[in-house]
This record gives sequence, C-alpha cells and structure tokens, in this order.
Amino acid sequence: MAAMTELAHAKLNLTLDVLGRREDGYHELRMVMQSVALSDLVTIRTGEEEGIRVRSNLEFLPAGPENLAAKAAVRLCEAVGADWNGLEIALDKHIPVCAGMAGGSSDAAAVLRALNEGLSLGLSREALARVGEKVGSDVPYCVMGGTMLAEGRGERLRALPALPLCHAVVCKPSFSISTPELFRRIDGVRILHRPDTRGMLRALEAGDLAGVARRMYNVFEDVLPRPQAAAVDGIRQTLIAHGALGACMSGTGPTVFGLFDALPAALSARDALRAAYAETYITVTL
Ligand code: C5P
Repeated sequence: MAAMTELAHAKLNLTLDVLGRREDGYHELRMVMQSVALSDLVTIRTGEEEGIRVRSNLEFLPAGPENLAAKAAVRLCEAVGADWNGLEIALDKHIPVCAGMAGGSSDAAAVLRALNEGLSLGLSREALARVGEKVGSDVPYCVMGGTMLAEGRGERLRALPALPLCHAVVCKPSFSISTPELFRRIDGVRILHRPDTRGMLRALEAGDLAGVARRMYNVFEDVLPRPQAAAVDGIRQTLIAHGALGACMSGTGPTVFGLFDALPAALSARDALRAAYAETYITVTL
C-alpha cells in the first residue's frame, strides 16, 4: 500500500444537549457540530514491525492498540477481512488533546478514510461512519465533517446548511475534565437551561451567523466544578469583550471558543488569551 495522508479536522459544538441516560449506559444527545480548519495530519503506511504502531509528535500518546487511530484500523480491517499486521500510523498533532474538540476521534476517522483509499475498499462515507461507531461516539461525525446535527449516542447524523464562513478563536485551559465524570455530574442534576436547537437550525438555514453565535450553548457548562467553571467563564468573557459574536465550551471541555466575523477582533482575542493560555489558536470554520 502506498503511504496515504489525510487531514483530521477538529470539531466544535455549536450546541450540546443531554436528553437522558440510556439503558446501555450512554446518553441520548442532541448536538450541532461544526468542523474547523485546525487539523492533525494522519499518515498511514506499511512498516517493518509486527502489529500496528502509532507514532506521534506527542510522546505521551499511546503507541499501541489502545490508541483510537489503531482501534479504527483494526475495526475496518476486521469488517473487510484485510490484514493490519505491519501497519504504521503517524499522527502529526496540532489539535489540543483531551480538549472537547474530538482530536482522537478525528484521527480515527482519518485512518478510516485513508485505509479506504489505500486499500481501494470503495466504501461510502456512510459505511465508514458505521465502522466508526464501534470506535467512539464522535467518530461517525468526524468521518463526515461539516455542519451536522448529531443525535442518539452521536451517531445519528443529519447534514445542515453550512455555517457561514467565519473565524474561530479556540482556547484550551491547561486543566482537563473527565468525560465520564461530567456525564455522572449531569445525571445528578435537573438541567435548567438547554440550547435552543430549533432556533439554531433556523439560524443556520437563514445563513445568520450572529443568530447562530447568539444561540451557542452547552449544558455541561452548568455542571463544571467551581474553579473550572470560573476559568471557562473568564475565557468566554474575554472572547466577548474582544468582539466575539458568541462563545461557548466545546464537548466536555475544557476548550472554549468564540466566533468572529472580523479577523482583527479575532486576532486581538487570541493575543489577549494567549498570555494566560498557551493553547490558544485562531482558525476558520469549514
Ligand atoms: O463513545 P466514547 O468512547 O467516545 O465515549 C466516552 C465516554 O463518554 C463514555 O464512556 C461515556 O461515559 C460518555 N458518553 C455517554 N454518552 C454518549 C457519548 C459518550 O455517556 N452519547
């Protein structure tokens, strides 16, 4: 197989709602997802070693089968009866890790697309997304990308009108938040505020960027432990003070992002946040 390289885009949650707990232990979700240009580069090639190896510019990432990228390769090869022995996956990471931007899921999705090409499998995106379901809840969305409504565990997808092109400033504080812990916290409270998902869909249909930004909302923000909630709120306020049309936490955090219709405002927000948070980036929506 010739070496294949794919971009793995980060995602942002324009909305995130948790509708309830399911019998399988997962939660019923309703989310509007958006891809951004900020990406990892994922290369697959045939190597010399046994099994699957994952190499990356971040040495703390798992190099073996527990890495989602390796899991995706195994699941796809199992599904089509291909041999994964000797597969090498190189991750050039730029998306912050454990950030709520689906970096690991997006790498896994890129492996599925790359193997589909490299092995000439001829599978549709939808078929790849079905394989991705077995790897992680966000992987089906990451296979497809763009602006999408995701429901169920996250695997039921509907394409939405594309978000008008805009700048996004993303800021990841240095603490991390455990996803299962946040789900446990949300199970223990009555959710008082929810995103106006219908209003969000109408704003997208109308191509109304300000309307989209105004409706961004993530129910997990209300169950963050106090110090983390204060940091997230501080970042949001800085983004708004520098001209963001709206700002919100992505996924289970801790990344907070703001949408901007003007580059100078986005640049000034990035510069203001970077002083305190090294992992602050400016990107564009796709
Ligand atoms: O599917 P994935 O492995 O990415 O999910 C990670 C964790 O997030 C799960 O173990 C579960 O605690 C939580 N989760 C959930 N409901 C979902 C998606 C994720 O409870 N729909």
